[in-house]
Order: sequence, then C-alpha cells, then structure tokens
Amino acid sequence: MTHDTVITGARVVTASGTTHCDIGITDGRIAALGKDLQGEHVIDGHGLIALPGGIDSHVHISQPSGPGIEMADDFTSGTRSAACGGNTTVLPFCLPEEGRTLREAVADYRAKADGNCMTDVSFHLIVKDTDPVTLGQDLPALIQAGYTSFKVFMTYAGLALSDRQILEVMAVAKEQGAMVMVHAENEDAIEFLRDRADRNGETAPYHHATTRPVPVEREATHRAISLAEIAGVPLTIVHVSNGEATEEIVRARQRGLTVFAETCPQYITLTASDLDRDGFDGAKYVCSPPPRTAEEWPKIWAGIEQGTFDLFSSDHCPFRFNDPAGKDAPGARQSFRNIPNGIPGVETRLPILFSEGVVKGRLSLERFAAITATNHARLYGLFPRKGAIMVGADADIALWDPTLSKPIRQADLHHGSDYTPWEGFEVTGWPVRTILRGQTVMQNGDPVGAPSGSYLEREAPDLLL
Ligand code: URP
Ligand code: ZN
Ligand code: ZN
Repeated sequence: MTHDTVITGARVVTASGTTHCDIGITDGRIAALGKDLQGEHVIDGHGLIALPGGIDSHVHISQPSGPGIEMADDFTSGTRSAACGGNTTVLPFCLPEEGRTLREAVADYRAKADGNCMTDVSFHLIVKDTDPVTLGQDLPALIQAGYTSFKVFMTYAGLALSDRQILEVMAVAKEQGAMVMVHAENEDAIEFLRDRADRNGETAPYHHATTRPVPVEREATHRAISLAEIAGVPLTIVHVSNGEATEEIVRARQRGLTVFAETCPQYITLTASDLDRDGFDGAKYVCSPPPRTAEEWPKIWAGIEQGTFDLFSSDHCPFRFNDPAGKDAPGARQSFRNIPNGIPGVETRLPILFSEGVVKGRLSLERFAAITATNHARLYGLFPRKGAIMVGADADIALWDPTLSKPIRQADLHHGSDYTPWEGFEVTGWPVRTILRGQTVMQNGDPVGAPSGSYLEREAPDLLL
C-alpha cells in the first residue's frame, strides 16, 4: 500500500513506548507504524524524534478582558503561535461578555475561531453565573453538545464564585459527567492583603506577588478539593505554582479522591523577583498565581516526575507590554491592581519542558508525551483520536531536533504579544515540523499553509490516566 505521506526513520514516541519506525499517513490519519513503508510524499525523519502534536489545554485567546483591555492574540495569531511551538490542538476558555449567556458566548467564540485556526481547537467553558437558566438549561445542554469541561474561579472580581456556588456548579458536573477545573486562590485573603498593600504604598508590580502568597493558593486548593469531595466529583486544579498546594493534591489522592493537577512553565523557570525588574518591566511577569521563589521549582519538578502533575500547560494569556490596551493599561503604573493578569507562552511551553526536562534527564520522552499531549486528550475527551501516535489516530505529529540549541527570542515567535517572558532563555531541542492531520503547518520555525484547523467536539473525561 502506498500512503499519502510517510515519515521515515524517526525515533517515534508511540502510545506504548519508543521505537524507530516509519509512520504511514493516509487521509489525515496514522495508517501504519512499521518498516519500509511507501508513501507518495516522504518526510525524512532521521535524527529527529516524532512526538504526538502538543495539546495545550489551558490557553486564553480573544477572551474578554475588561473595558479598554484587549488580549494580544486572536485565533489566527494564537493558533499560529501554537503550531510553531509544536502544538496541534489548543483548548481556549470561552468566557461570556458582560450580559451574554454561556450559549451566546459559545456561538461568539465559534464565529471567531471558524476558518482562522492553524491547529484544531475545542473550548472549555467558564462558569461565572449560577442563575437557574445557566445551571438548569445552558450548562447541561452545552455539556451534552461536547463542551465537557469548565473552569470556575475562586478569585478575580466578577468571576469568583462562593463556596455554595461552586458546589451548585459541581452538582451539574456530577449529573452531566463533566470535568470541573478550578483556579484556586482565596479572593477574600487577596483583597485583605491588597488593601494593606495600598495603605503601605506597596503598589509596584512586585506586590502582585506579595498579595498572592503561597497560603492563599494552598488554602483554596484544599477547599476546592474538599468541595469536590462533598459534591462527589473529580476535579482538576489548574496552574499549580508551589510545593504546599502540590502537597494538598498528594494528600487528597492518598485519601482516595480523584484529583488531577496541572502546572506550567512559569512555575519551574520564573520567580517573583522577575516582577521586581527595573521600571515597569515587572509587569511583563504579572500572572496568577504568581511565580514563586526558586526553592519551589524542585518541588514542582518532583510533582512532574512523580506523576502528581498530569498536565503541563502554558496558561497562555497574552497581553502586549507597550500598549494601553495591554500591560500599560490606565493606572497600571500607579498600581499593580490595574495590570492585566497573564503572560504569553503557547509557543515556548514545549521547548522549555523538553530542554529543562528531557535534555536535562529529569523526564523520559514517554512522560513528556503524556503530560504535554496524551493526558490532555484523555482528560478532556479527545482520546483516542488525539494525543498519541497510534494507528487510527489523527496524524498530529511534531518532529523534534533534540540537538538544536538556540535561545528563545521574541523576534522568532509568532504570537500577538510584543514580548516573551523568556527572552534569552537557552533551549536545547526544538520542534522543526508540526503536522496537523497529515499536513505540515510549521517547518523550521515558520508557519506553513492556510489555516486548516477544525473545531473538535469532545466526549466525557477519561478519569483513568
Ligand atoms: O494570570 C493568569 N493566569 N491569567 C489567565 C487567567 C487564569 O487565571 O488562568
Ligand atoms: Zn486561572
Ligand atoms: Zn488561565
């Protein structure tokens, strides 16, 4: 049989291990894994590693961000940047604009995404309203229509839900079989600390970090887990930043609870001191939870290595720096309160983890594939179509050159932001080709072809990672 495309000679990280073989691709799917496969097009993979295309299940694209504030990425630039970073699927969050329902928000987002994506996409929902129509009609209907995961917030004015509200939302998740993702930071404690900081004149970007200390996240993580236990649902704690929150997750699992956990590159590479950089530069690093101290990095690494973290995502939430619609928002230089939260990172997530994890010997290729692709597909209802190199799956593949060394440079990236928090960060191992359903969408760092990404409807979460 002659395949449409054959990738020859790569070291292939399959669902069951690592092997040297050819990959035969027909009709956008992986049709064969074997020796001496024949194809109409041949991609020489010798010296390269074939990994499942990255799935970044925590990104923010075109998300409403408050009056006068605009996210730096729309679906065109956000997914272009994702593809250039070795990803083939992203899962952005769908947040209703003020006065819009969840159903309307989904329609709005679909209209923004359709025809503009260089990766496949699927949306998580954000539940910020708990009125009877949202919880009784819209949310159940959307879950049944394939929006099988949603995020709730324990912080941010206008988004934070009370414990009672979180329980009500979790009850819907239980009934409908959806995954609840929780942003765990205690809003009341943050407000208390911010008011005190205001009184002390502590208004610089650095105080974004001092007003969101570790106990704020640890307490909320414990509470979120307890609420999920009371409601009888599994949950995913997203963007875990420190050792004490990680311990809460480990302890919950020891008690037999089904708790999944996600961490991100910023929590193994950045620190709160970055928010203290000269002038207003610290604003570039303002995100929530904030980066901690370097003493937390090994604790996060231990969680990655030992399997506490199922997911390694970017939390890509891009704003421009030199822009009054971005980090330099009105009042931002007067108080960190006015700096939009979030940093860009969808293009750098995989190279940072490959370099710091695989190349430095902390992480096997198989575990890298699991926490950057396979587990995302399982947990968010995309497996076995996505997330693994195996016969029958979509031919979503990233070819990596494990020897290519170069620093991260804003000039080389494709996002809409005007900076990267990792400027100058040395990386060994880069994706050199991204293949989406058999078609090359990135080669040697540059996007290739017209947007061909599709919207993915999802199944219920697979809880057996
Ligand atoms: O600062 C961050 N992480 N902004 C994005 C929104 C969120 O909480 O994930
Ligand atoms: Zn969050
Ligand atoms: Zn986020």
